Amino acid sequence: MKYETKAIHSGLSDDHTIHGVNVPIHVSSTFIQKGLDEFGEYVYSRGSNPTRKNVETIVADLEGATYGFATATGMAAISLVFGLFKSGDKVLVNSNVYGGTYRYVSDILPTHGIEYEMVSDLNKLDLNTIDKDVKGIFVETPSNPLLDVTDLRRLAEFTKKNDILLIVDNTFLTSYFQKPLDLGVDIVVYSATKYYGGHSDLLAGLVVLNDDALNERLKFLHNTYGGVLNPFDSFLLARGIKTLPLRLEKHQENTEKLIEFIDKADIAEAIYYPGLKGNEGYEIQRNQATGSGAVFSIRLKKEYDIKKFINSLEIFALAVSLGGVESLLCHPATMTHESYPKELLDKLGIADNLIRFAIGIEDAQDLIDDLKQALDKAKGR
Ligand SMILES: Cc1ncc(COP(=O)(O)O)c(C=O)c1O
Repeated sequence: MKYETKAIHSGLSDDHTIHGVNVPIHVSSTFIQKGLDEFGEYVYSRGSNPTRKNVETIVADLEGATYGFATATGMAAISLVFGLFKSGDKVLVNSNVYGGTYRYVSDILPTHGIEYEMVSDLNKLDLNTIDKDVKGIFVETPSNPLLDVTDLRRLAEFTKKNDILLIVDNTFLTSYFQKPLDLGVDIVVYSATKYYGGHSDLLAGLVVLNDDALNERLKFLHNTYGGVLNPFDSFLLARGIKTLPLRLEKHQENTEKLIEFIDKADIAEAIYYPGLKGNEGYEIQRNQATGSGAVFSIRLKKEYDIKKFINSLEIFALAVSLGGVESLLCHPATMTHESYPKELLDKLGIADNLIRFAIGIEDAQDLIDDLKQALDKAKGR
């Protein structure tokens, strides 16, 4: 079955009593067992719940993976996976990951005796110089907010030989555009709050993988930490996924049109988008993904007043997050990446004139016109 068909038809099959086309929202916290020595598949909803199981099955199927876990938020998925490490381990993380991930790594991991190191360009890192204590590499590609692309095949070849867990946050692309497990990655995490949900009306996270032993440990941690996705949001997430391929095509088509406008209008000192020819990650992106998604950043030229520009937009909303049907923009230095120390922001180039766009599925010309009128008001300061 092709991706578009799976997005609609994967999941648990009908229970042969009601014959609904959708799996219902099972709100039971507990499930009746037949007898002392006869436990059913579902016992207690923290461990497993049919509505959650449905969406976990769909997501694993879309990824071509064996196992999937749905968590309460993307951060719950990320912390679940970091729960695999123990005191004395070290993890490498690419810099300019989502601010919440940085907060987790820099604040929580050390309290568990786990060392971390932020690496500015994993593509340039001489892998043979990596410390023996390194037990995991966490990568966001494309990264947030500078859209750096990491060569996953190169990393996977190394981590497989050296018993290092390779974890990828694939939130910006989803399995529709990129399948990290096929490139040799061990575990994929998502903020499903973004494209999988798709309508800015839920919070959710996902973890997908193939390995049996890792799955057993994650199952234990999922149930023990308890940050599971509730039945209502599991239903909403499964509903959102049905239109994921359609939405992503439109998100990306709009993005390409907007970038073309921005490029031609010459309003940016730099455009960060791996789908744009000439961008550093362009070739790697083409080799490991089938698309570049709908998030990009620009450094607005200094002749435009950034405050006036943002405040004059009528369709674009100033808000963190991405992946919903509506177009958003944010100011990473003070919004998504406020947890980064000022020196790190400067070092990475997360400058005051950097704006991150998350393009929705509105009419592309309306979006361009909105940018035009806001630019006119912000010009000539
Ligand atoms: C790339 C990325 N990963 C993880 C997260 C965290 O997800 P959540 O907000 O669902 O906890 C986000 C949130 O913005 C994100 O952008």
